[in-house]
Formats: sequence, structure tokens, C-alpha cells
Amino acid sequence: MQPEPSHPAVSLMTWYVQAGVDETIGEHAVDRYALQDSPGAAAQSSTDPAPPPSIPLRRDPAPPPSRPTVRPAMPPAAPSPATERAVSDAIHAVEDAASIDDIRAALEAFEGCALKRTATNLVVERGSAQARIVLVGEAPGAEEDRRGLPFVGPSGQLLDRMLQSVGLDERHVLITNTVFWRPPGNRPPSQAETAACQPFLRRLLELVDPEVVVALGGPASQTLLGRTDGVTKLRGRWFPLQSLGLSRPAQATVTFHPAYLLRSPAQKRLAWRDILAIRRKLTELDAEQADR
Ligand code: URA
Repeated sequence: MQPEPSHPAVSLMTWYVQAGVDETIGEHAVDRYALQDSPGAAAQSSTDPAPPPSIPLRRDPAPPPSRPTVRPAMPPAAPSPATERAVSDAIHAVEDAASIDDIRAALEAFEGCALKRTATNLVVERGSAQARIVLVGEAPGAEEDRRGLPFVGPSGQLLDRMLQSVGLDERHVLITNTVFWRPPGNRPPSQAETAACQPFLRRLLELVDPEVVVALGGPASQTLLGRTDGVTKLRGRWFPLQSLGLSRPAQATVTFHPAYLLRSPAQKRLAWRDILAIRRKLTELDAEQADR
């Protein structure tokens, strides 16, 4: 019987093949078509005993930082007085937020970002508020705008497959963007729009307090790290993200935006290396923690 092309095991195997995985190293052949439809099952062998969940979820929920230290980096060009006012309003609007719901409420009341006027829905985050990894994209697209959730269109489906290929899902990650409304016609968000949203993004990072932050694409790496180099130059490296009210610096890295990978499938090999490095970083952080 031919498996459905949309079967999770088929899409996961397709991702592996496109990423250049051309060798199997397990002791037993795995019939992935026979796997259950359950989340994460595709990464598991049907004949081997199920391994214990290999990625520990975070043990302690992050306490809200007592003194918010929202310090947005200003955009490179001198901001206009209107942008400065919007950034200052945003800082005040979000500085007392103690939960993601508070951030959402502050964004709903915020009038300093013009994108709000053309968007259908506010798009804040999906995933776990206790995530060990936060992934940051650029801006919601059409499907995200319709559903009010980030990365739920074609690039989000690819992102989910990439995460699933190393055993990660919405229990381990939180996914968000540099701006929280869709730019009309999917144009890139302007510097002013990004600057006005940045205090909300910073507060979200402070509250989740992740160990690892992943910038998806150049605009996100510019916003988070202030780096203007291209992704090709930045990927494969780790940067301490310490100018935040985090309990300790997060480890930040950069990889290709999944929408770019859909247009340039040859780069999936490099993205696969990045996703393995991100997974490895969690193991290293666990080992460091165990040594303490
Ligand atoms: N691209 C992004 O950068 N973010 C989304 O949420 C969807 C597509």
C-alpha cells in the first residue's frame, strides 16, 4: 500500500533526503511507513524499544524577572521623533508585563505600529512559555495573519519538520517574530515598525528566559544581535545574548529562514547542520548543568 504523501513519516523522510542525509546508521531497518501518527513517532523506530524522551523539558518555569530591563537596540539609521515616541510608548506599555498574556494585552492596546491597521489578527507566539529554545522569524505572512499564529503557513510546516527531525516540538520551543502584525502584501517590515515592536519581543524573551535563541534569517539576526552580516557568514556561530533581563545570557545562533529554504532547497544541507548544532547545544548545556 502506498503511504499518503502527507503522512508525517513521509514528510520527515523527504526533509532528511533534501537535507543530504544519505546514510543510515541504525542496527535495524526501520519501516517508517508503519509508524503511528503520533507527534514525534516518526523519529522513532517501530522495532527498537522506545527510548526515553531524549530532550529534557525545562525543569523550573522561569520566574518573571523582578525588574524589567527592556533595552531595545535602536535601528541603525537615526530614528525619527515619531519612531522614538513609539519605542518609548512600547517600553512603557510592556515593562510591567508578567506573562505572555500580559504582552498580548499590551500589544492589543498599543497604537504605535502602523501594521496593526492593515492586519487581520495580532500574531504573537506559539509553543511553550517554558521553552528552552526561542525561534524568531521576521513577520507573519498571509496564513499567520488569518489564524493569528506564527509560522503556520508553508514555511512554518517546513520549520516544524526541521524541528521534528531532531525530536523537538512545541513543548520544547517557542516561535515568534520581530513584528506582530503582517506587513501588507508581505513587504519587509520597516525599521520604524520593527523598532516599535522590539520592546515587546525583548520582554517576551525575558519572560520565557530561554537557553537558546535562534534567529531565522537576516532581518531577525539584525534585530536580535545587531549584526548586518548575511546568514551565510553568521550561521554556525554562537553569540551570547546578554543585554536582556535574562537570568543568564542566552546562546544565540542564526540559520536560514525556512521561506528561503523553500526557494533554495540546496541550502537545506546547511540548515540540517544548523539544526543538529542547536540540538547539540542543548545536550552541552545539560552536561554543563550536571557538572555544577
Ligand atoms: N515568515 C516569518 O518570518 N514569520 C512567520 O510567522 C511566517 C512566515
